[in-house]
Formats: sequence, structure tokens, C-alpha cells
Amino acid sequence: MSLLELDGVKVHFPIKKGVFVDRTVGHVYAVDGVSLKVEAGETYGLVGESGCGKTTLGRSVLRLVDITEGSVVLDGTDLAKLPGEEMRRFRRRLQMVFQDPLGSLNPRQNIESILSEGMVAHGIGKDQEERREKIKSILDKVGLPSNALARYPHEFSGGQRQRIGIARALVLEPDVIICDEPVSALDVSVQAQVINLLDDLQEELGLTYVVIAHDLAVVRHISDTIGVMYLGSLVEEAPSDALYAEPKHPYTKALMSAVPVPDPEVEDKRERILLTGDLPSPANPPSGCRFHTRCPWAQASRCATERPELREIGGGHRVACHFAEEIASGALELTRPTGIEAVTAGEDVVVEPTVAEAEVPSVLLPADSTTKPDAAAVKEKMPTAADAPGDRTADAAAKDSDAAAPEESGKGSGGTV
Ligand SMILES: Nc1ncnc2c1ncn2[C@@H]1O[C@H](COP(=O)(O)OP(=O)(O)OP(=O)(O)O)[C@@H](O)[C@H]1O
Ligand code: SF4
Ligand SMILES: [Mg+2]
Repeated sequence: MSLLELDGVKVHFPIKKGVFVDRTVGHVYAVDGVSLKVEAGETYGLVGESGCGKTTLGRSVLRLVDITEGSVVLDGTDLAKLPGEEMRRFRRRLQMVFQDPLGSLNPRQNIESILSEGMVAHGIGKDQEERREKIKSILDKVGLPSNALARYPHEFSGGQRQRIGIARALVLEPDVIICDEPVSALDVSVQAQVINLLDDLQEELGLTYVVIAHDLAVVRHISDTIGVMYLGSLVEEAPSDALYAEPKHPYTKALMSAVPVPDPEVEDKRERILLTGDLPSPANPPSGCRFHTRCPWAQASRCATERPELREIGGGHRVACHFAEEIASGALELTRPTGIEAVTAGEDVVVEPTVAEAEVPSVLLPADSTTKPDAAAVKEKMPTAADAPGDRTADAAAKDSDAAAPEESGKGSGGTV
């Protein structure tokens, strides 16, 4: 059995209307039947465009939102059914790191107080002295000096604040950490440091991560398995290498094709799939395959009427498409030829911005690489100096703190692409 198993998880938010009496007039189908497994010690990356339900899914695992249907099983226990007090105890084992470190840290508490709060609540450490020692050792692990204890969140840069957010999760000795857009509010060089830190901590402490991101490169760096979400459901899931080497679902193909390749020869020849039309509203999702309103291969026969199951198609892929095999073999005709452009050398194609292109990541790896880079290779590409106090300029620190967009603590719904 996997450490974390989600089975048919649905989170539907009621839409209420009425002056005197609230009437439910519909639902936002934010998460609509997600099943996935996360193995101990692995990283599961969750990608998809803004509003597809990534944060809601992460929050449902921690029961920060009510689960409408389905089960979330951690180490054999179904969290969806746990009564409040037991769930509170289980929450120690599941921690979340938020996109905006400043918004999720109380500005009136110093770092010691922020980090000890959860420890006291969960009975970790027999007294404050013991807790302080533990906090110091965790601060050391995340690259912050022990004199950070008496300081306040506003005294740190964005990257340092994210380290504090990670430390706050770590002091509770969790099994699984859900990182919701952990680096998207940070400056690019700091993003790399935080990702390296997550990677190192995983190796040292045997942590299991679910990393939510709209940035495909960030997810690729650290994920063993990647799940692609579209309008509340998983449309494809595969080991990271397989997904990047050969995406099978038309939506994943479009996402991948929007990632520029640093090699000009490969960049000139690669195929681009341009999605037409807007992302439909999760309050009124399309019938059948939810992607059929934008899919370049949508077929008249089944696509608009029959919802595809996420099914194994070999090579480690699970794909929710009736015609995945035919698309892969080239047997299926395009039904929206204008939505696809093969960019050939020397030919300029004028492209209108699309939602898919807004997914272009800020940290890039060659898309023709078929293997997940090992930790050493990643580090070579990424700066590794810890952004500890004193080793950054005031300008850089100010830039980071500016970059951190305000977000309500724990809500985690920023991260737009
Ligand atoms: N509490 C809520 N009540 C009603 N609707 C909600 C609530 N929280 C989220 N939603 C809606 O659910 C959908 C999914 O939102 P969610 O924040 O999970 O998306 P996301 O994939 O994390 O997007 P982003 O990349 O922008 O963070 C959105 O349409 C959002 O408006
Ligand atoms: S089921 Fe049909 S509409 Fe959906 S992704 Fe496959 S081909 Fe496209
Ligand atoms: Mg989100």
C-alpha cells in the first residue's frame, strides 16, 4: 500500500444565492474525481493551469476543505472519515508549505514563537528549552542561523521566509509535505535554492512531497511522478521522464509544446500545439471529456458524450483520453487543424497568446532531455549558496519581499500563470 492514496476525491463548492434565505443554485466542481497514489520517499508533482483545482486538492488532503466524496488514505487510515480530534492528531503527519511565505507567517510572532506553536499543540518537546534546541537544529538544516529565533518575519527576505515556512513544517516531523507553489513568489535564483533545499531535505529525512506548481520545469526538477490536472480531474499521470519524453494526452502535449527549448535547432523543429478557446468554468464544465471544447483531436463519436477514465496505456502512463493510442500512432486526423502549427526552420509563425503559453516556465531545462537530472546535475544548474542573513544585498532582499504576492494565510489560491 502507498503512503498516501486518494480515491475518487471530489470537492464541490456550493454556489449560494438569495437575500433572506441562502439557496444552492449550483456547484463549483473544483475537484471532480481524482485518484492517485504517492509512494513513501517520493515526490508527486501536480501541474495544470490556474483554477484547475490543484490547491483545493492539496487542501482536501489536509481536510482544510470538506471532501464531498471519495477517500484520502494516509498510511492505512481514511482521513475523510476521521472525527475532528483524531484528524487534528493526524494533521501533524501532513504539513503544507504555502506559496506566499509572508502571508502565512504571523507578523507579530517571532520565529521561535511561530515554530514552537505547532510543537506545543502536538505535544512535541517536554519544555521550551527542548523545543528551542530542536528548532535550532531545524533552522540549521534549512540554512538559517540560530539568531533568527528572536527575529520577526518582515526582517527576512522572501527566500529566507520560505525556509522558515519549510522549517515550520519540519519541526512537526511530518510524513508528507504538500508544497503549494513553493517557489512561484520568489526570484528565479532563490527559486533554485529553495528547490535544492527541498531536494536535500528529502534525501536526508526521507520525506514524501506533493509539489503543486504551474511551472513545468520546477516540477520536473524534483518529481518522480507527475500528474496533470484539467478542470478538476487528472488527465495524465506518468513517471517524470516518461511524461516529458512523450506526453500522451492532448492537453499535456499542448502544455509541453509551450516550453521553449534552449537549443535553437530543436526549438526550430519542434511541434507546437496551440490551444484555442478559454478554459471553461468549473461551475459549468463541458460534458463528456472536459477537454473536448479545446482538443485538436476531439472526435464527434465519443468525446462530447462519454467521460474518459484515467487508464493505463503502457510505458507508465495513465491517460484520460478515449483515443490516446490512435493519437500516439498518428492514426487519428486532427479535427482542429488551425490549432496546431509545426514550427519549421526559418519560418516565422505569428502566434496569439494562449493559456497554454502562459504556462511557460521561468526555469528551463532542455525539453529534449529524456532523463530526470540527478541531484548533482540540478545543483550544477542552480545556485546553491544559502540566502542566509548577511550574505545577500538589501536590494535582493527587498526584491524578494516585493515578489511575494499577498495571499491569505493557508488559502493558497494565488499562483496564477
Ligand atoms: N472556497 C471556495 N469556494 C468556492 N469556490 C472555490 C473555493 N476555493 C476555490 N474555489 C474555486 O475552485 C476552482 C479551483 O481553485 P484552486 O484554487 O484549487 O485552483 P488552482 O489550480 O490552485 O489555481 P491557481 O494555479 O490559480 O492557484 C476555482 O474555480 C476557484 O475559484
Ligand atoms: S477524449 Fe477526445 S476530446 Fe478528450 S482528449 Fe481525447 S481526443 Fe481529445
Ligand atoms: Mg493554487
